[in-house]
Parts: sequence; structure tokens; C-alpha cells
Amino acid sequence: MKILVGGGCGYIGSHTVVELLTSGYEVVIVDNFYNSSRDVLDRISKICDKKISFYEGDICDKEFLRDVFSKEKIDSVIHFAGYKAVGESVAKPIMYYRNNIDSTLTLLEVMEEYGVYNLVFSSSATVYGVPEKLPLREDFPVSATNPYGYTKLMIEQILKDVSYSNDKWRIVLLRYFNPIGAHESGLIGENPDGIPNNIMPYIMRVASGEYDKVHVFGNDYDTKDGTGVRDYIHVVDLAKGHIKAIEYLEKNGKISIFNLGTGMGYSVLDLIETVKKVNNVSVPYVIESRRPGDIATCYADCSLANKELGWTAEKGIEDMCRDAYNFVLKNK
Ligand code: WQD
Repeated sequence: MKILVGGGCGYIGSHTVVELLTSGYEVVIVDNFYNSSRDVLDRISKICDKKISFYEGDICDKEFLRDVFSKEKIDSVIHFAGYKAVGESVAKPIMYYRNNIDSTLTLLEVMEEYGVYNLVFSSSATVYGVPEKLPLREDFPVSATNPYGYTKLMIEQILKDVSYSNDKWRIVLLRYFNPIGAHESGLIGENPDGIPNNIMPYIMRVASGEYDKVHVFGNDYDTKDGTGVRDYIHVVDLAKGHIKAIEYLEKNGKISIFNLGTGMGYSVLDLIETVKKVNNVSVPYVIESRRPGDIATCYADCSLANKELGWTAEKGIEDMCRDAYNFVLKNK
């Protein structure tokens, strides 16, 4: 089985490629290095010692994508490629809609041209908007509070409509909660360009001494210690969920939606204290005002993925914090 991975040099994409290769799949990566780097390819090969086909280019480029599909006999596609910074999406909505929607439509057109109908899409818990009830279930109402979230919501709708239009389509939407951590080798991990938007890469830069303190966005939420609570999931567990989704596609048509989380919520201060404890580092922080658009609490009901995919997250918060810092130490 040959899997095309769009955005396969990125944080979640690279970890999924490792799990695909380890599970015996052939992998073709397409990436334009917008938020990733070429050396990830060598690092994946070091971990897996397997051949990877790679094509540098933009999924929005139809001729480029046609060239890939004409050269490679693709069985299924995993689509990670997309811009994902909430704040940036508010400042640059046209760029976000153009890239995230256009790349998906181009991919669907070329897949159909080449008779490839199996697709796993990287969605996000952000489509739940401001939760009315917790834990979040896949049949809960969806909404968005920023252009990034709207692109995920719109792409979910596009994929639902596409799956209803032709029985040949087999589509799985995976709603990620908060992926953190890194592969145990320390060869691949999360290393965003510039100042990280997300909490864990920011904590890592404070722990390594690159930054002086963490800015905690609000401690007046209705949570156990007033700081935001999220369902953090180890990126390797998340990657394994994609393997289960590919296996599921072989047996199930139409479209299915699954939460990929742990079902456990941890606060910002929980995360900081765990990083300090497991790595024996200091992580100074300062409490600041809330970040606009943030919600208080978000965590998953993962029973559907457990039941239908036979998938459960196995790693705990300490593993996530230890592996995240191991990646930092190995790449100083
Ligand atoms: C987590 C908690 C912040 C930074 C977003 C997207 C989601 C996915 C992951 C792409 C919150 C607090 C953060 C900081 C802080 N994106 N925080 N100081 O907002 O839950 O989810 O990123 O796939 O779709 O919505 O993640 O890591 O930004 O924030 O206090 O410097 O950390 O307020 O409570 P978020 P996050």
C-alpha cells in the first residue's frame, strides 16, 4: 500500500510518516517546506532506514500534483498541508482561505482524476468552538471563532459533500486536540519558525534558556487553577491514530469523524510544573491577560475512536513533557 502524505515534513506529518513506514506502508511525501525543513527527510530515514519518495512542491499547484500521481500509484492520501496559526489567520484571512481551501480542492480534483478515493484529513478540535458541554463528542455542534477554524470547518463540509456525491469516496476526518511531545529518538519534533504561538514549544524555549519566561494568558478562567485547560496528546499517539484511520478506510466507505485526544484535561500550570519535574529544569512564568479567542476548557470523549478504530492514546503527560525536552536537548 502506497500512501501520499501532504505536508509530510511537518510536525505531525513527519511523525505519521515514521509510523507508516514502521507499519510497512510505502510513503510518498509532498511538501513545500512552508513550515518545515528538508533535513526532516534525512531524520525520518535515520529512524526508519526505509526509502521515501519525495516531491517538493505546493499542493495548490495542479500540474505539480498531477505529475506526482502520474509517477506514483497512490492507494490513499493523508492531507496535513495547511496553515495553522490562529493569530496569523486573523491577520491574514485571504492567505489562509486561499491556501487551506484551495489546496484541498486541488487535491480532491487530482485524486478523482487518478481514481484515488481514500482520504484522511487533518482536522482540529477548534471546530467545536466554545464548548457548551464536556467532554466533546463528534456529534456536538460545530462552529468557528477565527479564519483558521473556519477553514477546518469549511473543509469538513466540502469533504462531507464530496463523500455524499460518489460512493467511491472513503474519507476520515481526524479532530486533533493538542498535540505535543516528540519521537523518543529526539530526531523529529516541534520546532516552529519564529515565536511559537502554541504553549509547549514556548515552554521548551524557556526551559532551554532561549526565552526568559512563559507568558500565561490568563488565570481567571473557571478552571482548577484559573489557567486554560486542554487535552494534550503525545504526537506519536496521534500519528498511530492515522495508521488506524488508513486501516479503517479499507473496510468502511462514506465519511467518518473521530476525536484524537486522551480524554484528560491539563492546565497551563500543570504543564509547566510537569516540564519542571520530569526534566529538572526551571520554567519561570508571568500571569498576563487572556488571549482573545481562547476558551477555558477543552477535552475529548475518545470512545468512538476507541471503538471504531481500535485506537487509544497510550502515553501520559510526563512522557509528552520528557520527550519534548529530549528533542530540544538533542537539537540545541
Ligand atoms: C494552549 C493553552 C492558552 C501560549 C490551538 C489551535 C488548535 C491547534 C493547537 C493547530 C491555552 C495557553 C498558549 C502561550 C499561554 N492548532 N497559552 N501562553 O489555543 O488550545 O489550540 O493550537 O493545529 O487548532 O486552536 O493551543 O498551545 O496555543 O494554547 O498561556 O504563550 O496555553 O491560553 O490555554 P490552543 P495553545
